[in-house]
Amino acid sequence: MGFAVGIAVLLLGVVLGWLIVAVGAAIAAIFAFLWIREVTSPVRTAEPPAVPEPVTRPAGPAPPAHKGREAMPEPGEGEIIRFPRSRFLEGATLGLGGVIGGIVTLPVAGFALLPAFTDQGVDDIDVGALDDFAENRFVITTFLLDPEQGEVSRRTAYVRNNGLLDGKPSFTILSSRCVHLGCPVQVNGLPIDEEEKKEMIGKTEVRRIPTAAAVGFGCPCHGGQYDAEGNRTAGPPVRALDRYGFKVKNGRLLLSKTYSVSKVEGKGSEAKIKKYELMGPGQHVDGPEALLYPIEPPGR
Ligand code: FES
Repeated sequence: MGFAVGIAVLLLGVVLGWLIVAVGAAIAAIFAFLWIREVTSPVRTAEPPAVPEPVTRPAGPAPPAHKGREAMPEPGEGEIIRFPRSRFLEGATLGLGGVIGGIVTLPVAGFALLPAFTDQGVDDIDVGALDDFAENRFVITTFLLDPEQGEVSRRTAYVRNNGLLDGKPSFTILSSRCVHLGCPVQVNGLPIDEEEKKEMIGKTEVRRIPTAAAVGFGCPCHGGQYDAEGNRTAGPPVRALDRYGFKVKNGRLLLSKTYSVSKVEGKGSEAKIKKYELMGPGQHVDGPEALLYPIEPPGR
């Protein structure tokens, strides 16, 4: 049992961190040593066999092994072969250990490995030409995450063109999902008197509304506030707003995988971002509290 627990802790450590791996390895090693010691103790503590009296052999050729006074009795017809109790206990212990190990290991392995396979099929989402995003303005951009599911999969991203960085386009693309409990955050700032632009791109209708001067974002549910880089400035959210990755292809902006952010230092194209795998609302991505949220199912 101790060995199985050690292996389970070691496997958990693969997800949680190397310190836990070391603790699990230590537990497994200690109990493996105790197990081997116990299993081999009858052999180690057994009395050395008594030296038999020298046998005076009768003269003449030796009799066959199954004949004579010293021969083993021949097994009778249909005699049952019996297994000692220790063999049963050994098999039961190994079987039980295997079952417990499987129960503990399969969920951990599933959570650790499945995202690598299930997160492959999300296509990049085209949200418009680069010219549709004026520099240094947030554009409220909505799109369908999965056209097959229809409007229920409509998402909102706040897209700001930061201009060029080292000759390449730079964008800040914030998710509208509040990282407290998931309400949609709204732009704080002056509205702009411009028409919403709609464009069919593939199977999805993309809508874009330019904003005048977004100074930040606010959540209508519990008053969470964020600055223009998505950093939390007030209220109950636990980290900065999640962001979309992006690519520029043939002069068009493509949104890619979302990721979580603990904090952003600097602004616009110069910003330094501490990125993490996408986590759910309310979940810490760094600090000691992050240990409470080791695994997050795939999604975005
Ligand atoms: S859901 Fe946004 S502050 Fe609570």
